[in-house]
Amino acid sequence: MDLGISGRVALVLGGSKGLARSCASHLAQAGVRVVLNGRDATAGERAAAELGNGALFLQGDLSAPGVVGSVIAEAQARAGAISILVTNAGGPPTGQFTDHSIDTWRAALEVNMLSAIGATQALLPAMIEQGFGRIVNITSFAVKEPYPNMALANSVRAGLTGAMATLAREVIDRGVTVNNVLPGLMATGALDRVIRARAAREGITEEAAAAALAQSVPARRLGKADDFGPICAFLCSVHAGYITGQNIAVDGGLARALL
Ligand SMILES: NC(=O)c1ccc[n+]([C@@H]2O[C@H](COP(=O)([O-])OP(=O)(O)OC[C@H]3O[C@@H](n4cnc5c(N)ncnc54)[C@H](OP(=O)(O)O)[C@@H]3O)[C@@H](O)[C@H]2O)c1
Repeated sequence: MDLGISGRVALVLGGSKGLARSCASHLAQAGVRVVLNGRDATAGERAAAELGNGALFLQGDLSAPGVVGSVIAEAQARAGAISILVTNAGGPPTGQFTDHSIDTWRAALEVNMLSAIGATQALLPAMIEQGFGRIVNITSFAVKEPYPNMALANSVRAGLTGAMATLAREVIDRGVTVNNVLPGLMATGALDRVIRARAAREGITEEAAAAALAQSVPARRLGKADDFGPICAFLCSVHAGYITGQNIAVDGGLARALL
């Protein structure tokens, strides 16, 4: 299917690896010029070269003050007006509610909520001026069903979901859609860290920890990056102009919420 977005520019925050990279790759295949961001410049430059279609990598740690703004300024200067924004970053540390200091809560808010809000604030005016904008936030199935030992993710991602649900209804009449894609248990970097932590905690091998997680999914397997990228790219397409404020789980049936 032609996504109808060839020639547009997308910024994919935290886009050099994993799920967001798969989204970036499907956008590039649709003719979009993609600007990737991440902390590790070697991996990022390699990812941009592999995407092709003029893709750029901009190094920057989204947890550091001012980085969202400087990445956006450089992306606009080098690639032109941005009409597609995919927000992503590494997930917060695992642990129970009482495990985290208030500073750790604040850091999670900064990386997993405020970076997405800041990027959206910066890019919305240009999207509205173009009469076309697509914002896709990578959140988590945990917004439908809080997951054990994930107090920070359960909380902070719910906050972002509320903010984006509000914005979605404020800008749809200007051609800008706002949606969230919710990964389940996907065999990419974030879950690798969860598997390692679980294996260490329970004294089992990483293979056993991964198998136990896979068995907890109705699909009986972990998700792949390529299960995720196509729907993320579709939400950025011209065909998705009447879809907004949605939370679309890509989770093999994991979250059992009715809606
Ligand atoms: N995989 C799952 O099962 C799962 C489930 C639920 C939710 N999620 C969430 O979905 C998101 C993507 O997961 P994933 O598995 O694709 O993760 P991943 O493979 O670790 O990729 C994360 C990407 O974000 C970049 N990144 C991380 N922290 C950053 C920061 N502070 N500033 C800028 N870039 C940053 C990473 O690049 P650098 O390392 O070079 O910075 C990388 O490109 C995460 O927020 C994760 O918590 C994942």
